[in-house]
Amino acid sequence: MEYDVAFVGLGYVGLSTAVCFADRGINVLGVDIDSKKINRIKNADSPIHEKYMNELLEKAIKKNRLSLSRKVADVTKAKIIFLTVGTPSRKNGSIDLKYIEQASKDIAIAIKDIEEYFVIVIKSTVVPGTALKIIDNLEKHSRKKNSIHFGVIVNPEFLQEGSAINDTLRPDKIVVGVNSEKDKKIIYKLFKKIYRKNLPIVYTTPSNAELIKYANNSLLATKISFMNYISRIAERIPDGDVNEIKNAIGMDKRISESFLNAGLGFGGSCFPKDVKALIAFSKELGVNSEILQSVLAINDTQFMSVFNILNKELGQLEGKRISILGLAFKPETDDIRDATSIKIIKRLLDKKAKVRVYDPIANNNTKRIFGSSITYAKDSESCIRNSDCCIIVTEWKEFKMLKPKDFIRLMKRPLIIDGRRIFSKKQFNKLEYHAIGLG
Ligand code: UGA
Repeated sequence: MEYDVAFVGLGYVGLSTAVCFADRGINVLGVDIDSKKINRIKNADSPIHEKYMNELLEKAIKKNRLSLSRKVADVTKAKIIFLTVGTPSRKNGSIDLKYIEQASKDIAIAIKDIEEYFVIVIKSTVVPGTALKIIDNLEKHSRKKNSIHFGVIVNPEFLQEGSAINDTLRPDKIVVGVNSEKDKKIIYKLFKKIYRKNLPIVYTTPSNAELIKYANNSLLATKISFMNYISRIAERIPDGDVNEIKNAIGMDKRISESFLNAGLGFGGSCFPKDVKALIAFSKELGVNSEILQSVLAINDTQFMSVFNILNKELGQLEGKRISILGLAFKPETDDIRDATSIKIIKRLLDKKAKVRVYDPIANNNTKRIFGSSITYAKDSESCIRNSDCCIIVTEWKEFKMLKPKDFIRLMKRPLIIDGRRIFSKKQFNKLEYHAIGLG
């Protein structure tokens, strides 16, 4: 075999995993139908913004450990084939399996006349039962038999944008949904080369592996919405402060301190999509999802805290200059999919406010949505200059460098709404400082 592993779909998950595997000495073939993407990757110019990505790409290409193709049929040159295509949302929130179905059909046709035993690993996020559908699809189009001519494994991904490389190389856990001992051995042999020490592998069935991914993301989203709910209570208590609550409850090992930061709501391409998909899937099974519906409801309205403060402090927003620091759905990424900044800007424009924004790397992506209806600053200082209010939407490190005196010197009125709690109230007591979860 020419390659150890092939990836079909070079999005966030596919590309991050492919370069990390290549870095561990695995011969990887990356397949994507998007020729622009393939050309960029070939030139070690990553289509996604991710720390260490370009360096690892360059190294992988130089050492000939990462080859690229636009043809799914080429996957037959590898023994293990990872499916890392997107599973977008349909209008009703359920996931659309068209890309994964098409990819599995293409793979089936490609392996049809080849003797070799292939293992197909589903890494895309899919609802329980999808692996069975993929097996049917593969059998139908290849006329081969599952477990005899090929095997299917479910191996969901838990990496976070912004720390994708580190998360891929050092995962908390590796979930492997597998039904056959033969496939288990094949995948273990591969994973042993990548995650050398103490592999935290959890073996389970394919359906459980599929559900683990949704349960994982939905529980994290629930923690966030729960803290946003507590923040609403804290805001209505004169000396309330959600951060004090977070610090104390986070010390309880049963709760843990992570993902307890109240803010302006969660965004990105995963939490909103996955929570909606689990709700839609539960509905098909006749299971009520009140808990997750509340998680979404809280998330959808969380940004309104900003407008409650604006209404109180500025009244009518028409003609008011509002500066926004941070556009990406989280720091260290230029991704603005489902970002809270979009909701806030849209409402500010509805209210006829003048909006100036700044993000270290997401200005360009935001321009694609808002064009010339808002202005884009080159840095945080020019963003807040002469504004009537500054809203901090993403907790980029560089915003933390701003001092109270900078806001006083530059702003027309030093009114700050800290949507991510990057400053302390004590430090900002000479300003009109408001923050999420602060009474
Ligand atoms: C999330 C999961 O954390 C990953 O484990 C998973 O692999 C990924 O989805 C996926 O399914 O692909 P990601 O969307 O990259 O990762 O970003 P997170 O760091 O989880 O942040 C999601 C959102 O939650 C951000 O908007 C962030 O600001 C918000 N958040 C996070 C909070 O509001 N509070 C917190 O305490 C943590």
